Amino acid sequence: MCGIVGYVGGRPCRDILFRGLRKLEYRGYDSAGISLIHKGRFDLLHSVGNLDRLESVLHQMENGSTVGIAHTRWATHGRPSNENAHPHTDCSGRFAIVLNGIVENYLALRAELEVEGHSFTSETDAEVVAHLLERSYDGSLREAVAAAFQRMEGHFTFVAVTIEEPETIVAVRKETPLVVGLGEGEYFVASAVSAFLAETRTVIFPDDAELVVVTRGGVEVTTMDGLAVEHAPEVVDWDEDAAEKGGYETFMLKEIHEQPVALADTLSQRMSRDGLVCLDGLGITDDEIRALQQVVIVACGTSYHAGLVGKYALERWARLPVEIDVASEFRYRDPVMGPNTLCIAISQSGETADTLAAMRAARTAGARILAITNIVGSQVTREAHGVLFTRAGLEIGVAATKTFLTQVLAVQLLSLYMGQVRETVALDKVRALTDELRHIPTLLNSYLDSGPAADIERVAAAYAKNRFFLYLGRNIGLPVALEGALKLKEISYIPTESYAAGEMKHGPIALLEDGSPVVVVATDSHVYDKLVSNVQEVKARGAHVIAVASEGNVGASVMADEVFYVPAVDEMLSPLLGVVPLQLFAYYAAKANGESVDQPRNLAKTVTVE
Ligand code: M6R
Repeated sequence: MCGIVGYVGGRPCRDILFRGLRKLEYRGYDSAGISLIHKGRFDLLHSVGNLDRLESVLHQMENGSTVGIAHTRWATHGRPSNENAHPHTDCSGRFAIVLNGIVENYLALRAELEVEGHSFTSETDAEVVAHLLERSYDGSLREAVAAAFQRMEGHFTFVAVTIEEPETIVAVRKETPLVVGLGEGEYFVASAVSAFLAETRTVIFPDDAELVVVTRGGVEVTTMDGLAVEHAPEVVDWDEDAAEKGGYETFMLKEIHEQPVALADTLSQRMSRDGLVCLDGLGITDDEIRALQQVVIVACGTSYHAGLVGKYALERWARLPVEIDVASEFRYRDPVMGPNTLCIAISQSGETADTLAAMRAARTAGARILAITNIVGSQVTREAHGVLFTRAGLEIGVAATKTFLTQVLAVQLLSLYMGQVRETVALDKVRALTDELRHIPTLLNSYLDSGPAADIERVAAAYAKNRFFLYLGRNIGLPVALEGALKLKEISYIPTESYAAGEMKHGPIALLEDGSPVVVVATDSHVYDKLVSNVQEVKARGAHVIAVASEGNVGASVMADEVFYVPAVDEMLSPLLGVVPLQLFAYYAAKANGESVDQPRNLAKTVTVE
């Protein structure tokens, strides 16, 4: 996440940059900063908190400079603080950078630079870039950026300036956004068009690993080897609102499409080169993990569904008894737990009142507490013994999508890690699974790029007027069915029932009549044949079956009226792909019914009341 913007031109740019940040605030707002080149030196301003805080101190900075870079941060490495806020500078104070993304090998780079005598002032991964520039600069910022880029692993965009070349900005990207705005004698670089849409609509979109050199004279794009690259300028006709959504019609749709990057970010640095899971800084020691006798998971809503995936994964890989409860119930129980109980509290916001209360109850009962959250510095992180962060970036749509997927990934990583430590899962199995996990962001990206939405939209529109949907799944497919049903009811207000498929015959089957839509999570698994029998039972009552199935399952189209195929993966990892068509299905059903997808009635993104 994070938003970055840079300017070179003829106008004083302090306020231009600030207005750009305002448009990028949705990308993060825990701290912010601006760096201007003024009279041969850097003028730097940082503040902790949202952009109102930066605005309140903006007057401390002169507005004379015509070259600058700015950043609004969503913390990944290092808590929100002035030291960790961007722009970051090198030891000599000649280079400043802003970065969006993650530099995966920053620890190795930092160690290398420290040995050479560089001293660091922040905990961030980004600061290494300023020192890499300082080390390699030999009269050309473009070449220094190229040298730094070639040493960096991960996915990131960064923008660099130096007082040695006070009229130049250099930017480069790798798997994260960068757009260049072409104005009249002035140029912009940013994470999104919205940052400069009020100034110009003419843009170019550089590709990965291209160097973008911006001066008052124009924009030059080259390869790393210095060969010129031509990008035909495009004129964007988005309105400002659409621009903040990156061209998507809603934040929810944008966030569904951000899931591959969110998964890649959450995986980053959590698998060692030899294919094992490494969760450094978990706050729960390996000895404590070995001594565990029980795990209790508490969460609400979508986070509870991610917790259910954790129950299956922990039982299978860590061989521990796992109990799970919704936090609002758990908090008023009298749970039996002790020092060898681990309570895992899952909350994307980290502020949900029920989840916090459940954590406190578990702590009072003697358990160790591990929080899984998306928000650095949130309340759960203050009250837990340990924290495992998801790195989904800021989620604006009220219906959780990318935070769910990253929670699922986090519980899977945690379960594998605990299995590794407890020696309850073979290391070869861990390696096989981490190898699959490594490829899932790419698989999901290709899936989304292959355009499943058109077919899903067609089916959703055909069924959207139905007043009831039954969702079924078994085993690891059950949380996916529960989550798919919650998404549909949250944003389309269509009543849904979600059930373990084998339990359906004990009651819910009475709801079915001719034409009732039944959504079935039928990805490959060891209970697939059992599920097929349950599907036959609903078909015998005249239901219309919409199935999510693994690619290559030729029988699925015989069993179901409509099939959404997803790439086949290990059954324990299948929720990472299987839930995506159901998110899209809910989305298009709500749209077909004309509902407000990003702000459904009666709901709030963060539920801080009991
Ligand atoms: O912030 P949390 O993960 O603790 O939030 C829990 C639920 O309120 C949340 O998942 C809710 O169900 C969402 N609206 C789901 O889309």
